[in-house]
Amino acid sequence: MALVPISDLLKDAEAGGYAVGAFNCNNMEIVQAIATAAQEERSPVIMQASQGAIKYAGIEYITAMANMAASMIDVPVALHLDHGTSFEQTMRCIRSGFSSVMIDGSKLPLEENIALTKQVLAVARAVGVSVEAELGKIGGTEDDIHVNEADAYFTDPEEAKRFVEETGVDALAIAIGTAHGRYKGEPKLDFARLEKIRALVNIPIVLHGSSGVPEQAIREAIRLGVRKVNIDTNIREAFVGACRKVLADKPDEIDPRNVLGPARAAAVEIIREKIRIFGSSGKA
Ligand code: G3H
Ligand code: 13P
Ligand code: ZN
Repeated sequence: MALVPISDLLKDAEAGGYAVGAFNCNNMEIVQAIATAAQEERSPVIMQASQGAIKYAGIEYITAMANMAASMIDVPVALHLDHGTSFEQTMRCIRSGFSSVMIDGSKLPLEENIALTKQVLAVARAVGVSVEAELGKIGGTEDDIHVNEADAYFTDPEEAKRFVEETGVDALAIAIGTAHGRYKGEPKLDFARLEKIRALVNIPIVLHGSSGVPEQAIREAIRLGVRKVNIDTNIREAFVGACRKVLADKPDEIDPRNVLGPARAAAVEIIREKIRIFGSSGKA
């Protein structure tokens, strides 16, 4: 199938009360793993590439690989820019064939975040590309934000309402206690805040930093309105963990296929597991 914008997938997820997994890719094996997992689960899926992934693999390779993968399966696939931080970056992705982009103005003052998001939307709308924005501080696990600092860092529900009304954005990433990377302890999600945001904001909510969040918490977040769940770190762990195991078991191995093949298979398994948790199995 041809690539589809995330708004198509998230509309169906809203109607069905499930979430679509958004999995980060950096190379051919991970692109293939995402496509295989989605096909085997008969699930819609979002492949996403960060600015770092684009720098590593090249925008042409990322776009070509995603298009090729999508064309070989019969479940819907979106190709999404993850955490784009400039207007120019989102435009490069749109020109290259991404079906969706994220403009992350969360480090900017609210007014500037709104203005930047609107600037991207004005172009994206004209060409049928959907846009995700971010409000609040998701940060990294190293940032160690405590609940008593929540009001300073987490998404303010009233601000979210204003942001969505003024921008008309398609999906909103919020900060409710998750962080990118590996958690030191167990993350505690601010479900009351999610509920408030959900009551005020009528568009799909995106949960970033979802690797390492306990299954029950993910399920609860989806029950409360999260429709896109981002996973990167768990794929990295599975992929590189499998490479490590092959190299430990066979220190003389020199064929990349014998290292990367098991890594790709491990990525398929973790992605399938996530898809089942998100409730999107069998929805395509
Ligand atoms: O949100 C961050 C993603 O895990 C992408 O990470 O910028 O290292 O590619 P990256
Ligand atoms: P994790 O690496 O914590 O899964 O976060 C992924 C993410 O939010 C990508 O935008
Ligand atoms: Zn993220």
